[in-house]
Amino acid sequence: MKHLLGTRDLSREDAIRILDTTAQMSATQEREIRKLPTLRGRTVVNLFFEDSTRTRISFEAAAKRLSADVINFSAKGSSLSKGESLKDTALTLQAMGADAVVIRHWASGAAQRLADSGWMHGAVLNAGDGTHEHPTQALLDAFTARRHLVSDSEGKGLDGLTVAIVGDILHSRVAGSNVALLKTLGANVVVVAPPTLLPFGMAQREDISVYYTLDDALEAHDLDAIMMLRVQRERMTGGGSGFFPSPEEYTRLFGLDRARMDRMPDHAIIMHPGPMNRGLEISAEAADSPRSVIVEQVSNGVAVRMAALYLLLSGEEAPQ
Ligand code: CP
Repeated sequence: MKHLLGTRDLSREDAIRILDTTAQMSATQEREIRKLPTLRGRTVVNLFFEDSTRTRISFEAAAKRLSADVINFSAKGSSLSKGESLKDTALTLQAMGADAVVIRHWASGAAQRLADSGWMHGAVLNAGDGTHEHPTQALLDAFTARRHLVSDSEGKGLDGLTVAIVGDILHSRVAGSNVALLKTLGANVVVVAPPTLLPFGMAQREDISVYYTLDDALEAHDLDAIMMLRVQRERMTGGGSGFFPSPEEYTRLFGLDRARMDRMPDHAIIMHPGPMNRGLEISAEAADSPRSVIVEQVSNGVAVRMAALYLLLSGEEAPQ
């Protein structure tokens, strides 16, 4: 693997290798001294053209815990606001000796463009591109689900588990990456959304079960995990708020609340990639319940990004 651009082209073997390496990285973070010397002398650039809290901070923490030098570069306050192109930005980063570039961009395909361009030689890690892919989010979600739901999980996928992804699938790069990775790891994927918030062709897929209310999905399946998605109002251009009649109607049909949570099997977990719209797609009671692993997802984000940087920049066995 030279880059990490998406999960659609990630083999099962590579995905499990990243999850197993994440487990090793996570174990190192339980120690008193959490810093490893592994990437000393390497430079990681965080290139963020879109806002981020979790992904940006956890990539920075991950690179620093591996002893890499980190350069944080956000579009706001840079020469991008003077019209500098992605190409000239990449050439500048290459001239500064970047070994890896973590890129978040509003355009779907931006990470692939950077990787294919030849403008720079380092590894490219996609930290979210438009509505397309967010591979490290899907990997940290899979790692969190595996840790809770699969015993003796080393070397294993998510075979036979049933995972529901609920909400604004159309605008969600998290959903795109999760559907692909969950299938690769052997899970049954259930998708729940208003018809207006489903990507073209998804309802016709035979390898996914699609529902138009959360109650119907809960009736039909014993869900092992439920991933609630943020309603991405900032991407609802053109149709405005016309994707659903009202926030109240959305919550009534797709919101996760106490009553719906109680219909899940005892072992089932609740996930959300964040940031959450509390009271819209998820109630505070569900988000803060003992079933919720939402905060743990954030912690696991550091370990999965350590694993990704390590595997792309080192190529050795993970440190014990
Ligand atoms: N889940 C996620 O990508 O969050 P941020 O936008 O805060 O990075």
